[in-house]
Amino acid sequence: MGTNKQLVISSFSDDIRAATSILTTELPKISENQILVKNKYVGINALYDRELYRGKVPYINVKFPYVFGVEAVGEIIETGSLVNNFAIGDAISTVKVGTAYKEFQVLDADEAIAIPEATPEYLTINPTGVSAYLGLKNVAELKPKETIVVSAAAGGLGHIVVQLAKQKDCHVVAICGTKEKETLLQSLNCCDRIINHRKENIHTVLSTEYASKIDAAFDSVGRHMFDAFLKNLAPLGRLVVSGLATEINEGSFEKINAPRVYESIYWKGASVRCFMNHLYKDQHPEARNILFKQYQKRELQVKVDPKKFQGIEAIVEASEYLLAGKSCGKVVVEL
Ligand SMILES: NC(=O)c1ccc[n+]([C@@H]2O[C@H](COP(=O)([O-])OP(=O)(O)OC[C@H]3O[C@@H](n4cnc5c(N)ncnc54)[C@H](OP(=O)(O)O)[C@@H]3O)[C@@H](O)[C@H]2O)c1
Repeated sequence: MGTNKQLVISSFSDDIRAATSILTTELPKISENQILVKNKYVGINALYDRELYRGKVPYINVKFPYVFGVEAVGEIIETGSLVNNFAIGDAISTVKVGTAYKEFQVLDADEAIAIPEATPEYLTINPTGVSAYLGLKNVAELKPKETIVVSAAAGGLGHIVVQLAKQKDCHVVAICGTKEKETLLQSLNCCDRIINHRKENIHTVLSTEYASKIDAAFDSVGRHMFDAFLKNLAPLGRLVVSGLATEINEGSFEKINAPRVYESIYWKGASVRCFMNHLYKDQHPEARNILFKQYQKRELQVKVDPKKFQGIEAIVEASEYLLAGKSCGKVVVEL
């Protein structure tokens, strides 16, 4: 009987090292409709995970020990007797809250998505690319030739957002925080203006170059970034809150003393909207298939952070790396 090493949340804490531990269990047996998968790569969602091991994700009741991680790609090593849509050796992708950070996982066969090969690129598309696609379509409601501003644009999510925006012939303003991220954004050939927020003041640049010109803003950062986007929205502009990196990293929402949000947007008929990927589940297959095809036809570049992390133990380190704002593209761990 083999063993299955997993990273679990074993207590609530602000610090991933205090909150988590490694648990080794026996490999479970599969039933007739299930498959056993050897995970090859798992995706790191450090900001979401942080709220999880703080016990602050409102729709998840974390009971210890709680296996976490959302997405993985891997290879099927065993199939149940009634499984006829998969065979041993097939590559699959899975997206399921509370499953990924383990060496092996048991799945119902209908939970697995066939992919040509278990690579970090397919892992990035499903679900991070899918989030980019669905956020732009349903929440930003991006239209051709509009001006869009994207924060954390060289991140796992951001680098797909900027490319999909350019496919609509939009004017794309990409914001990032390091020289390496600038280089990544340049390599995508889709950004009309790249702003390194450590070199240029974001408020000044947007108020000078894009005052009342932002039709859509896609923000994963919050605080000063959100404020600068809000201030410069165009009439009918949409500010999408897709992530809250600053608030989550600080551990509490900054209290501000200012007029309510409608003060800046009422007369423009503009809006602030929030995006939450899992609420668009019915659209996941369509989005996934579109992006898989684009990637295969080389119409979409998928960037994976070059830093190598290996093994279940390395998930903690990879998470800290992302939280430190160092990553370029999607952070993955090879198991
Ligand atoms: N709503 C949803 O359904 C959904 C789905 C997927 C992801 N998300 C969110 O989208 C965001 C991007 O996720 P990702 O996994 O692709 O991460 P990421 O963008 O690869 O990494 C986070 C980036 O955010 C920026 N950042 C700014 N302030 C930060 C701070 N205080 N702490 C950490 N990072 C900070 C940094 O980029 P710069 O140096 O360039 O500023 C950093 O590299 C996250 O906030 C995530 O929670 C939301």
